[in-house]
Amino acid sequence: MACGYIGLSCNALQDWRTFAADLGMQVSSDSTETRLLLRVDERAFRVSVEPGEDAVRYVGWEVASEQGLDRLAVRLSAAGIECTESPDLAIERGVDRLIRTADPGGNVLEFFVGARIAREPFVSPTGAVFVTSHRGRGDLGFGHVVVTFDDYEAARHFYIDLLGFDVSDICLLEQPWLFTRVNPRHHSLAFGHVPGQSAYHHFMLEVTDEDTVGRALDRFMDAGAPLTAGLGRHTNDLMLSFYVRSPSGIEVEYGCQGRLIDDNAWSTATYESDRIWGHRRLGG
Ligand SMILES: [Fe+2]
Repeated sequence: MACGYIGLSCNALQDWRTFAADLGMQVSSDSTETRLLLRVDERAFRVSVEPGEDAVRYVGWEVASEQGLDRLAVRLSAAGIECTESPDLAIERGVDRLIRTADPGGNVLEFFVGARIAREPFVSPTGAVFVTSHRGRGDLGFGHVVVTFDDYEAARHFYIDLLGFDVSDICLLEQPWLFTRVNPRHHSLAFGHVPGQSAYHHFMLEVTDEDTVGRALDRFMDAGAPLTAGLGRHTNDLMLSFYVRSPSGIEVEYGCQGRLIDDNAWSTATYESDRIWGHRRLGG
């Protein structure tokens, strides 16, 4: 499985165009006035933005095969969780098949197979090369998402016990945070307990090198963009990154050098801090 796409809304699509360009994302030629489709690799889109109140509308999780998708639907239904296959939405997202459900926080999830590969090559406006796969290790998805849950135990049951996400490690912040993987990327989903708040905190995009990260940081600083955390390195996935608030409200972590996990040579650890250095919170 992999974190395949994310759907956002925002009433200032033009702001998103500028923001995406500063991240090095390419605006797809399939974009319309009411749907901005953003690319980071060969896929037709990885981020979709439509007009509306600032929100994360859905997160798309890519399943490797149709059989895997069918098994997932059976598992969700057997657990009493409503899930619906939608051919219309599949067409809209440009995938072969899609099943829609929601997690215990009410976040809409779309499990899909058969993502569309664009005819046109990916060309970053900043020369950025994004890490979405690894030669020999397969699909890594666009990055990761981090989300808070009011009901942490329900989220843990849903993602770990039911969907089978593997715990990579635990971070002790105010509360324990679980960092979970579905492919060799250290984590595709991290979540923690925040009372009264079930919401996405950020999504991460990974590029190949620190100069691309540094040049993006320069662009955001020069533009007076709402940076939310300065440059730093995480303890667990070793990502060198900074955070900036997107026009949809959700933060974007932009980094490089993220760690990949070999299931045969990995032990789960509990970290007392999420950063080796940096990531100082900023006002953005
Ligand atoms: Fe992150």
